[in-house]
Amino acid sequence: MKKISLALLFVGATSFLMADGAALYKKCAGCHGAKGEKKALGKSAVIGGLDKAKLIEDLKGYKAGTLNLHGMGGLMKGQVASFSDADIEAVSDYISKLK
Ligand code: HEC
Repeated sequence: MKKISLALLFVGATSFLMADGAALYKKCAGCHGAKGEKKALGKSAVIGGLDKAKLIEDLKGYKAGTLNLHGMGGLMKGQVASFSDADIEAVSDYISKLK
């Protein structure tokens, strides 16, 4: 009995951590602003409300190390290096809905 409820708790906690765009975005807000309204370090575009497909493409590009829009792609690579495809999708969905 005890084992089962512990297992359920664990599954619940993992899915929460894995695909919660709002939680993932906390890490980004320091530079991009709570609503994605800032030009990060005075360099990036304002990302809040951008098209989700573009955000996914950009983040995958940064992760792969192939995107460098404003000379600071390497910094963004570090930000998303540990993100799974599901994380990228979830955070992009969250950002696309920011206003
Ligand atoms: C330390 C500050 C910092 C943090 C934290 C940060 N970024 Fe960035 N971000 C930047 C900078 C600087 C750029 C410009 C990179 C370049 O030269 O291409 C950028 C670019 C971007 C772009 C492309 C915008 C454009 O100009 O078209 C997206 C999308 C983005 N960041 C999303 C995120 C997400 C999502 C996170 C959190 C996982 C995040 N960033 C965390 C600084 C940051």
